[in-house]
Formats: sequence, C-alpha cells, structure tokens
Amino acid sequence: MQMLAQRNLPPLLTRADGTPVKTAADWRARRSEILSIVEGEVFGRLPGRACGISGDIVREDNVYHHGGRAILLELRVTVTCEGRSCSWDVHCSIPKSSAPVPAFLLMGYGGSRLGDVPCEEIGERGYALIALDYRQITSDDGDFTSGLAGLVYPDGQRGEHDAGKIALWAWAMRRTLDAVEALIPEIDARRVIAAGHSRLGKTALWAAASDERFFGAYSNDSGCGGAALARGGMGELPANISTAFPAWFAPAYGEHARDVDAMPFDQHFLLALLAPRCLHVASASEDMWSDPLGEFLCCAAVTPVYELLGETGVDENAPLADDMPGVGGALSYHRRPGTHCMTRLDWQRAMDAFDKAIAR
Ligand code: GCU
Repeated sequence: MQMLAQRNLPPLLTRADGTPVKTAADWRARRSEILSIVEGEVFGRLPGRACGISGDIVREDNVYHHGGRAILLELRVTVTCEGRSCSWDVHCSIPKSSAPVPAFLLMGYGGSRLGDVPCEEIGERGYALIALDYRQITSDDGDFTSGLAGLVYPDGQRGEHDAGKIALWAWAMRRTLDAVEALIPEIDARRVIAAGHSRLGKTALWAAASDERFFGAYSNDSGCGGAALARGGMGELPANISTAFPAWFAPAYGEHARDVDAMPFDQHFLLALLAPRCLHVASASEDMWSDPLGEFLCCAAVTPVYELLGETGVDENAPLADDMPGVGGALSYHRRPGTHCMTRLDWQRAMDAFDKAIAR
C-alpha cells in the first residue's frame, strides 16, 4: 500500500467522532456523514424549492430503429417551479426484448456528438441507451439565471454550499430516472447506470452517489472533481478547476482548493458513496490532465469499503497495463491507451464490467 499510504487521505472507515466503522450498519451511518460533506463542500445542495416534474413521450419508432431490433423513444421532461419551467429532451434507444432491459443513462454533449456513442452495439449487448444533452438543462458557464439554474436561483445568486452546475446536471439525471421509471416499462429501472465523460463523468458520479436508485455509475476520464484523488495528484488540481470552472462546484469547494492537504475530504469520498453498487472507472493513458494514476489509486482507496460490504474492488498492487480487462469486481478500473475521449473500447470494457454485475 506504498503509493496510497503516501497520499495521506482522510479515512473512510472512521466516523467523525473517531469510532471505527466495522459493520455494514456502521457504514450506513458513516455514509451519511460522507454524503453531507461531498454535497455541502464539493458539488453543493439544491435549495429545497417545491418543483413539479412531468414527462411525456413525444415520438416513438417501433419499426425502423436499428433495423427493427430496437425501439426509439423521445421523451420530454419538464420541471416547473413557481410559474417558471425548463424542459429537456431524452433520447432512448431500447433493444427489443421479452424482459425489461438494463440501461445506461448518459449525460452527454448532445447533437452530433451522440454519433460518437456506439448506440447500436450497446443495444446488441442488451442495454438501452438513455441520452441527454447537458446544455439543454442549464448552460455550461457562470450564468445562474436561465434553464434549471434560473428555476433554482430566481435571483441568480448562490450561497457558499449551494449547488453548482454539476449538481444541477446530476439532479436532471435523477429526474430523468423518475420519468423512465414512470413511462418506460421496457427498461428495468432498478438497473440504470449513470454514465458520462469528463465534466459529465463527474456529473454521472455525483448523480449515482446522491441517488441510490442508480444501479451504478460509469465515469470516463472524469479526472479532477471526479474519480481522481486531489492529494498528490498530477494534471488538473482543485486550484486549477475551481479557478477555470467555479460554476461547476459549490463556492465552498473553491475555498478548500486553496489547501488540498487540509480538505476534509478527497475524491474517494465521492466514489465510496457508490459502494457496494457497480462502479466502473475508465481512464486513458495519455490523458495526463485527468490523472489516470490518481483515478486508479482512488479506486484502490475505496476498495476497503467494497470489501466491508462483501464486494471486490481494485487491489493497489494489481499489475496494471493499458487495456488489461478485468481489474476489480463490483468496483472496476480500466485504462485505455490513448487520449481524452470516450471511445468504443471504453464502452466495451464498461459493458464487460456491468455484464458481470447484472449476471450476479
Ligand atoms: C477541462 C476541465 C476538465 C474537464 C474537461 C472536459 O479540461 O479542466 O476538468 O473534465 O474540460 O469536460 O472535457
């Protein structure tokens, strides 16, 4: 445990009052503490405003999609809050099957970039793809007056521990899961995996961490603020990200970023919230900005929690090579050769990991 020990991470398996966490019941109590820290200090809390949510199917193709082997459904989800509303489209591609199918709920970059996702292959492997376009929910900038941000912050102002954009995108993933549960019996709502790449990998992790209905999460090159440890990290560090993208996080995160070693958390807190559910962390060997080693070690740091809950994680001393399949169990890690993107190989390895979890 040499490399990990040098990172001096805040402990996962010790309660705030110093009591050791020894059982699954102890973990539930510790998990609540960790959830509150990650929510308040990293991504931010959504103010408790009463919002109405509705979902409608606006288009259905039962005949032509994927040569007739899949159903295409387009939904529109609308959130209404004190007379203001915002809506987003949900693109669902569902392989035809005699039983409800598992699904990836992908927070994506929308439009033409959906073409990068191997949608047909995902369907052939038995998974539905539920895809959103993150900018339809709220803009990717410091404006908190429009889209979902405008509903949540009518005056455009946020407090120290209030939700940033990642938390708003993650909340939209949760509301989309509500709509899928209510409207699409062809999808097994208990087997929906939150997925995303880069800033949206951070988003997928937070969506699944904060909502235990998600079967698991697949983060791709999520890096700083996602699956990469901040302490001892390389590439992007909290000081960089909170300066370049302050809107993504709670304002409090920017304060913590000034002194990483004093932070009351590190990113293993975020991943631990997934335990014992299925979590697949994917890195790319040349993506130094996202710190592949920091992502691997973060998985290793969370492994004792998975083991406490009877699942397998990632051994810090496991031999690691590019595209070596099968590192880990319910918590798995894969490093693809190449640069920062979400490729077909990334999807294939993620599906390999979820296949095993679904078969169990
Ligand atoms: C920037 C940012 C990263 C982020 C990435 C992306 O590089 O620094 O934190 O993951 O954008 O979303 O593509």
